[in-house]
Amino acid sequence: MKLAVVGGGSTYTPELVDGLGRLRDVLPVDELVLVDPDVRRLELVAGVSRRILARLGHPGRLTTTTELDPALDGVDAVLLQLRVGGQAARQRDETWPLECGCVGQETTGAGGLAKALRTVPVVLDIARRVTAAAPDAWIVDFTNPVGIVTRALLQDGHRAIGLCNSAIGFQRRFAELLGVAPERVELDHVGLNHLTWERAVRVDGVDRLPDLLADHLDELADSVGLPPSLLVAMGVVPSYYLRYFYAHDEVVREQQAGPKRAAEVAGIEERLLEMYADPSLDEKPALLAQRGGAYYSEVAVQLTAALLGDGAASTHVVNLRNGGTLPFLPDDAVIEVPASVDRAGARALPVDPLEPLYAGLVAHVTAYEHLALEAAVHGGRQRVFDALLAHPLVGQVELADGLTDRLLAHNEEHLPWA
Ligand code: G6P
Ligand code: MN
Repeated sequence: MKLAVVGGGSTYTPELVDGLGRLRDVLPVDELVLVDPDVRRLELVAGVSRRILARLGHPGRLTTTTELDPALDGVDAVLLQLRVGGQAARQRDETWPLECGCVGQETTGAGGLAKALRTVPVVLDIARRVTAAAPDAWIVDFTNPVGIVTRALLQDGHRAIGLCNSAIGFQRRFAELLGVAPERVELDHVGLNHLTWERAVRVDGVDRLPDLLADHLDELADSVGLPPSLLVAMGVVPSYYLRYFYAHDEVVREQQAGPKRAAEVAGIEERLLEMYADPSLDEKPALLAQRGGAYYSEVAVQLTAALLGDGAASTHVVNLRNGGTLPFLPDDAVIEVPASVDRAGARALPVDPLEPLYAGLVAHVTAYEHLALEAAVHGGRQRVFDALLAHPLVGQVELADGLTDRLLAHNEEHLPWA
């Protein structure tokens, strides 16, 4: 089996390699190709990754290339974890929306739109080359904004599925609090990527969410940055990305006063790369846990194994075509829900009707995502403005105008039409 990782020079890669090493019975990889235009990162990351595989006794080969096409020969799955413009572009996304009093965030709001506009054309170019070279290969997308990027891939006819680590993060946390093995915990996780709610936490078919909210309320509320009273009133645990909606103005005040996440991440990455350069390092460093991608390797390996293996279908929370699962959304919207996954792909499990409190926001953001994708594919100031006007965190003409001007000015080098 051959896997290619586009954006393989990411400091997250040793996490993935560690997972491939530990879970090699589930996903027997003979060759892992890291693809990245940045030679320095590529070689540092490949070095430590090879040492991790060797320590774990993994027999597979790890190769590197700065060009995509040589990596695609005979490939079974391509994992996308690239970041167009790097942390520098992310830092701008986190900064200019604040000038208009709007949240500065890499996937939510105007910053997320900027990231989508930079990313979709690059990902579609990659996907077209993958599909031409290896039509049966799966494209597994972690590249943010995952909902919009997955929708772009599906609309363009690729064999693609989108992935995020937020559901597994909740599954692990709830399992620990309940004192049960994570595999026994099934989530009623519903919504869009980075816009989800945990409505039930089933262990052996029994919903333990009421117990969790009764016994660990403050801790759960703290972990998502929202008031305990809100979790009690809703009876659910919202994703911490919902804080950008439910506590928008508070977040803006904090962001205006504090350092940017992109700057923090850039610092962590420099230290990680120094560590990766040490020839005695043969495990993922503890510092990697300060990045947000906890359990990324588990979800990636388990999902890829389900897609490539011959085994029975298993359940994974993924981003996939709505196809009537949430009947109030268009069929071609991309939603994030538990799905049954095997060689044939992913099929959403049935979802209980979504309460209006969640359905309203999901429908609103889905319409924004549609317009964001139109802007990413076709370009043009008007389309950018439309997407922003449709976003629930923008919604006003003056704001949408100011944000559009800033988005275009800060992304000229990445948007040929701007
Ligand atoms: C979470 C999200 C990812 C996101 C990451 C950011 O894991 O699910 O989609 O990329 O956080 O982490 P970072 O360390 O880059 O801030
Ligand atoms: Mn995510």
